Amino acid sequence: MRGSFASDNYAGALPDVIEAVAAANEGHAPAYGNDDLTERLRERFREAFGPEAIALPVFNGTGANVVCLRAVARPYDAIVCASTAHLNVDECAAPERVGGFKLLAVDTPDGKLTPDLVAPKLIRFGDEHAAQPRVISITQSTEFGTLYTPDEVAALAEQAHARGMFLHVDGARLANAAAALDCPLSAITTDVGVDVLSFGATKNGALGAEAVVLLRADLGDGVQFMRKQSMQLASKMRFISAQLDAMLAGDRWREPATHANAMAARLHDALAGVDGVRFTQRVQANALFAVLPPGVAEELQREWRFYTWDESTGEVRWMCSWDTTPEEVDAFSHDVRQAASSS
Ligand SMILES: Cc1ncc(COP(=O)(O)O)c(C=O)c1O
Repeated sequence: MRGSFASDNYAGALPDVIEAVAAANEGHAPAYGNDDLTERLRERFREAFGPEAIALPVFNGTGANVVCLRAVARPYDAIVCASTAHLNVDECAAPERVGGFKLLAVDTPDGKLTPDLVAPKLIRFGDEHAAQPRVISITQSTEFGTLYTPDEVAALAEQAHARGMFLHVDGARLANAAAALDCPLSAITTDVGVDVLSFGATKNGALGAEAVVLLRADLGDGVQFMRKQSMQLASKMRFISAQLDAMLAGDRWREPATHANAMAARLHDALAGVDGVRFTQRVQANALFAVLPPGVAEELQREWRFYTWDESTGEVRWMCSWDTTPEEVDAFSHDVRQAASSS
């Protein structure tokens, strides 16, 4: 294989994250989050997300989403999300199975919910025959690599709060969004009315570390029980906390996310306007979606790793990571151009 544009999950971990884990590997430390590093991490999250933020480290993104939702929704509640949301299509129905929720999936052109798209789902409040709409869940950056502006998030928060609901953000790639929007993490979460956040670090260079973040002090009664019951309470939590701490310290998250986004922009610029390459989504973060002439994806996949996203249309996904190099992008775009022109 000459390189990989398959997923930011294919990338390794940042060397300084590995160093932080190694540095945490010193003697014995209290288990289950009662260690000094996890205590310091709580403060780091407050610095990043405001004084009311309560963060609970977890193992993975699916777990973060399920615990976030369980923290604010009841088993007879409904969660409104995009039909393309990871929550809806890539979590093996864990929200339904573990949380007991009904997911109300909404089709979107670009992975983004809007108040107009959500509105038809906000019905039958108080009707015991219907699962009760309780949470609007959005993904930032989205599964299509698109972004919500702070105003767009605020509009959804307002809509949710007006109906006594909550706004959840699946922030598996929140760093890519904040880097692209050139803003602090809080500007697209706490400051614009987000209530609960799944904060991701793994895709941006951690080994495996995510967090459930409650952004308002009055939320999430019993969330620590939900985490344990959802099998997301780490005994040697210091090693997860060390990774999150390393990513948040001095906004370390920004550089790898900015780099991944820049590599995606470079790939887009190299291929925009090339005959046979049709981008299907705006390239705003670290993912690109395109349709290629028949057979071209398969030819490229002999040398390059990437996913065919939609078998029916031949749409492919290319994803850049913190360790994607400009040379890799240039070599790949060269091969794509050649394959597309000779098809
Ligand atoms: C949008 C989104 N949310 C959450 C996740 C986290 O999933 P996992 O449970 O694999 O860590 C992913 C991973 O692909 C994702 O793309």
